[in-house]
Amino acid sequence: MADPTDTAPLRHLLTLEHLSRATLETLLSRAAALRPQALGHGARDALRGRTVVNLFFEPSTRTRSSFQLAALRLGADVLNFEVALSSTRKGESAVDTLRNLEAMGASLFVVRHSDSLAVTELAAHAAATSAVVNAGDGRNAHPTQGLLDMLTIRQHKGEDFSGLRVAIVGDVRHSRVARSDLHALRTLGAGEIRVAAPAALLPDAAELQGTRVCERLEEALEDADVVMMLRLQRERMEEGLVPSLAQYRQAWGLSAARLAGARPDAIVMHPGPMNRGVEIEDEVADGPRSVILEQVANGVAVRMAVLLELARV
Ligand code: CP
Repeated sequence: MADPTDTAPLRHLLTLEHLSRATLETLLSRAAALRPQALGHGARDALRGRTVVNLFFEPSTRTRSSFQLAALRLGADVLNFEVALSSTRKGESAVDTLRNLEAMGASLFVVRHSDSLAVTELAAHAAATSAVVNAGDGRNAHPTQGLLDMLTIRQHKGEDFSGLRVAIVGDVRHSRVARSDLHALRTLGAGEIRVAAPAALLPDAAELQGTRVCERLEEALEDADVVMMLRLQRERMEEGLVPSLAQYRQAWGLSAARLAGARPDAIVMHPGPMNRGVEIEDEVADGPRSVILEQVANGVAVRMAVLLELARV
């Protein structure tokens, strides 16, 4: 459980699960203050002389690019490590890779991996002078996505989450984003957290504690303030967890007509990449309630705040 009074500096950022409310709120406030620099206005060189390595064993558009921009806008050197062209292809382990990069002077590692334990293991082997940020590990956690989602909600709904009804919809079972959002929403005191998915895409019961499970999309949307749509991980289709894309869209796809059941000022979020015409229709993704590109912009500010925190700047 998070200690609500804990404000100790972060050593690594691997999950939001055990972070205190004070730590989350400090990171979010710092990210909000960094928004102008995150968008490239005003130079800052707080990380000059530091080297940030993007070590991505899985593909990424938003997370990798925004960490790169965050580091550059703080004056750091950035190495986008090419896993596919590296000696990992000859069998070199991730830990040996990290140690070699540390030997070259790198000290901040942003790591994405398909294995839920890999990033934590890497952090355990990092030098005392290094820090590791989890950029998404298997189904486990995506803490900076969780933070940027909370920052986006704060921007639209204020800092007090106690009156908010938040609906998380879609493939929750396989979503590291949903897990990090659930941890953060609970810690920040969200009024009601609704989880809506076909039964096969719900997580285990223990992960649903403190949430209201909705069996229909319409139930989740009713008077919701925040609607977080998740990517249907289409590879799961092959496992037979979802009957067909057409049926999924019919039952769980967010259209403008369905969104009318939410509050008139509800915001619609999606971590990306989106399956347009599956979990979300174009009219919603590109519509007036969508804050999806604001989430992306906030990603740079949040990642600047996290890099500064881990660098003790
Ligand atoms: N939201 C997110 O993690 O997107 P990427 O996979 O493109 O980084």
